[in-house]
Amino acid sequence: MSKFIIEGGARLSGEIEVKGAKNAALKIIPAALLSEEKITIKNLPNIEDINRSLELLEDLGAEVRRGRETCEIEIKRLAKDRLEPQFANKLRASIMFVGPMLARFGEARFPHPGGCVIGAGARPIDLFLEGFERLGAEIREKDGFYEVKAKRLKGCEYFFTTVSVTGTECLMMTAVLAEGVTVLKNCAMEPEIEALAEYLNGQGARIKGAGSPTITIEGVERIHAGTYEIIPDRIETGTFAIMAAATRSEIKITKCDPDHIQSLLAIFSKQGIRYEKGKDWLMIKPAKTIKAYNIKTHEYPGFPTDLQSPYTVLMTQAQGASLIHETIYDRRLLFADMLMQMGADIIMCDPHRIVVNGPTPLYGRRLTSPDLRAGIAMIIAALVAQGQTEVDNIYQIDRGYENIDGRLRALGADIRRIGTLNL
Ligand code: EPU
Repeated sequence: MSKFIIEGGARLSGEIEVKGAKNAALKIIPAALLSEEKITIKNLPNIEDINRSLELLEDLGAEVRRGRETCEIEIKRLAKDRLEPQFANKLRASIMFVGPMLARFGEARFPHPGGCVIGAGARPIDLFLEGFERLGAEIREKDGFYEVKAKRLKGCEYFFTTVSVTGTECLMMTAVLAEGVTVLKNCAMEPEIEALAEYLNGQGARIKGAGSPTITIEGVERIHAGTYEIIPDRIETGTFAIMAAATRSEIKITKCDPDHIQSLLAIFSKQGIRYEKGKDWLMIKPAKTIKAYNIKTHEYPGFPTDLQSPYTVLMTQAQGASLIHETIYDRRLLFADMLMQMGADIIMCDPHRIVVNGPTPLYGRRLTSPDLRAGIAMIIAALVAQGQTEVDNIYQIDRGYENIDGRLRALGADIRRIGTLNL
C-alpha cells in the first residue's frame, strides 16, 4: 500500500496553482449523458475520483478521449442501463449518473453508492429517490439494485427537507429534459451548482436561479454540444491557505477564486492571519500569533465541512480554545483522535463537537488517512510536527488532490511517496 513519509518543521514558500474543482467536474462528467453531441471539458483535475467517473462513463458506452487537462466525451447510445457495483461502491458521486440516464434514456439501475465513510452507515439517497418520483419516475428495489423508470419525466415542484449539494445538482440535471417547468426549493447554493447550471444553459438548457435557494428549470427537447472550463477548486484554495497559516509560511495561491472562500478569509482576519488577494490569487503571510476562533460548519456560503479537518489542525497552533462544531457529517471529527496521538490537546464533547486547546507542539507519528479531507489534514499536521510522520491509505488523498506530494515539494516540503501513483 502506498504511503507518504513527511519530515516536519520546514517553512514553505513560493507559489501553488489550484486545480479544477473535483466537486464541479464530478457533475459535469455525468451531465454529458444528457446530450448525444460532443462535450469538451477543460481544466479537468487528474485525480482518482475523476478517473473512476470517466471509467464509469466508458462502461456505460461513452467514447472518452482524455488529454492532460482536457477531455472529450460523446455518448450516442447506452451500452447498458446499470451502474456496476465496482464503480458505484467507490464513488458517492455515481448517483449523479442516474438522473441524466433517466432523463435521456428513460431508465437506470444502480446499487447504493459508496465513497467517503463520513456519515453514519451508508450515506442516504432518499432525497434523490423522492425527487425522481416527483418527476414521474417509478422506483423498485430488486436484487440489491434500485431500478428507476419513466417514459418522459414531467416538471414538478420539490422542496428539499435537507439542503443537499448533490441532491440539488442531480434533480436540476434530471429536470432539464422533463416536460414543463420544475421548481426546486431550499436548494444548496454552492458555486459548483451555479457552474453546472451555466454549463447546461450554454448547451441549450433553461435554468434560472442556480446559486439561490429556488431554482426553476424549463424543460427542453435537446441538450447540444458544449465546451466547459471547470472552476477552480475552492476546497484546495482553502486547504492551501490553512496549510500556509499553520506552517507560518508565505505562500501565493494562484488560479483560484478567493471570493469562494470568504467564510475562511473573514475568520483569518479575526485571527491575525494576514493575506492579500486579487481576482484569481491569494497570498498568505506568516502570522506571529494566531488567535483561536470557533467554527460551525454550514452550507455555502457558511464554513465548508470540507475545510473543517484542516482548520482543526490549524487550531492546534492557535492561542486559546476553539470549539469545532461539525453539523453536516457525524464521522468527520473522528480523525481528532490521530491529532491527539500527535500531541494535540482536544476534548471530544460529542460526535459533532470538539474543543481544541492551543497552541501545542505536534510530534511525528504513523497514521492512516481515514478519508480525503482528514487525509490532507494529516499532511498539514505532519508538516507542522517535529520529526517524521508516515501517512498510509493515501489512495484517499489521491482521490481529491492531484500530485499533492510533487506540488508540496515544489514549496519546499520534505514529503516522499512510497509506492506508485496509479493515475
Ligand atoms: N442527505 C440526506 N439525504 C440525501 C442526501 C443527503 O439526508 O438523499 C444528507 C447527508 O447525509 C448530509 C446532508 O444531507 O448530512 C448534506 O449532504 P449533501 O447531500 O449536501 O452532501 P453531498 O452532496 O453528498 C457534497 C460534496 C461533499 C461535501 C458536501 C457538503 C460532492 C460530490 N460531494 O456531498 O464533498 O462535503 O457536499 O458540502 O459534491 C468531499 O469533497 O470530500 C466531500 C465529501
